[in-house]
Amino acid sequence: MERIKEALDKTRALKTLQSETTGADRVIVSELQPLRGTERLALNDKELEPILLDPAHLEKNCIFAHSKSNELCGVFDRLRTHVLNRMSLKGWRTLAIVSPAPGAGKSVVAINLAMSIAQLPTRRALLVDLDLRCPSVLRYLGVGADNSLNDFLEDKCSFEETLLKPQLPRLSVTGASRRIENSTEQLASRKIQDVVSSTRSNIGDGVVIFDLPPVLFSDDAISILPKIDCALLVLPDGGYTEQELDDFLQQTPETNLVGTVLNKVADEKEYAPYGY
Ligand SMILES: Nc1ncnc2c1ncn2[C@@H]1O[C@H](COP(=O)(O)OP(=O)(O)O)[C@@H](O)[C@H]1O
Ligand SMILES: [Mg+2]
Repeated sequence: MERIKEALDKTRALKTLQSETTGADRVIVSELQPLRGTERLALNDKELEPILLDPAHLEKNCIFAHSKSNELCGVFDRLRTHVLNRMSLKGWRTLAIVSPAPGAGKSVVAINLAMSIAQLPTRRALLVDLDLRCPSVLRYLGVGADNSLNDFLEDKCSFEETLLKPQLPRLSVTGASRRIENSTEQLASRKIQDVVSSTRSNIGDGVVIFDLPPVLFSDDAISILPKIDCALLVLPDGGYTEQELDDFLQQTPETNLVGTVLNKVADEKEYAPYGY
């Protein structure tokens, strides 16, 4: 349990995100800068059209970091600083978002963190939804894809052709648009392993975030985790057991944990010990 104690010491606890506390009318779109050629991912040859996002849809799905005017953006900015500091120290560029069980809030944290990183003028973020059995990133963002990871895995397009640019200038996203049945084999395949290594090589000063499936429910996550530099653990406050944590740590002995997000904390007092 030493590793988890260490991780919990570094915890950024997130309050339960309540959409009532934010208002779509307060989202300032003019803060978002236009896409500039030099900011495109080097691995992407084509000009990506920025996709406008619907603030009300985002907030309904607990996505708040798209706008600096949103007060909950600060929570993710602090998480961003913590994660980037730790990654920079070690020269890590790829980050997995993990949890023992489903429903912890991995996808919510992954999207908000990617957006927060992309808000930094000197950084960029590529978010890859690798929860192939239960993809949700494109759905939470409210974006459709002509080419998704499904098409890439079926050899119908290149990985670059699946990339979307959802509104923020330095953010790129890709994911599956529907469930992939043979997800374990796909995640262990050469194709996905090449995606992990080529995005790592091409992201420069940015971060590639992989939203992973829950570790304890299949072999999916552990088949790809060893290829990813480090991981951020997301735990739902009061929604996990010591046994689950133990099992998680046993399944991921070599994973470099950069921290733990205690998510869905209802009462500020409860998460104070883990806060900064
Ligand atoms: N901090 C939070 N407060 C309230 N609801 C949350 C929070 N984080 C996630 N959720 C909700 O919990 C559900 C599961 O989140 P999700 O990110 O899809 O989990 P996972 O990717 O770990 O399976 C979603 O309905 C999401 O909107
Ligand atoms: Mg998810």
